[in-house]
Amino acid sequence: MSNLYRFGVSLERQLIDDFDKHIKSLNYKNRSEAIRDLIRDALVKKQWLCDNEVAGAITMNYDHHKRELVNKLLDIQHDYQNIIISSQHVHIDHHNCLEIIAVKGKARNVETLASKLKSQKGVKHLSLSMSTTGKSLK
Ligand code: NI
Repeated sequence: MSNLYRFGVSLERQLIDDFDKHIKSLNYKNRSEAIRDLIRDALVKKQWLCDNEVAGAITMNYDHHKRELVNKLLDIQHDYQNIIISSQHVHIDHHNCLEIIAVKGKARNVETLASKLKSQKGVKHLSLSMSTTGKSLK
């Protein structure tokens, strides 16, 4: 027996028309997968809000020539080695470094790590991609 559950939803015509246009532009073949992704996004957002164990990536660009900055960023990362799975350093050009740090741990710790890195002078941009370990999602 399938574990799929089917349900009906009533929506205003304009809303479903807009939704269909939107998901078509995102390359969805049908509404079901688009709605599954909306539900998963909501559940992952809640995992972060409730300080559950999460996974994600910190991407930051910083000035390679600020020597103290490089040491400071490394010190911070060593303080959070329990939640850092891996990191990749890319020399973008003579001045700029791009670092991608994969993380897994309690949401609050991940956010604190990201904010400690971001607030350093010389970090030009940092974004936190809030994803999931996937354990409780289908
Ligand atoms: Ni570099």
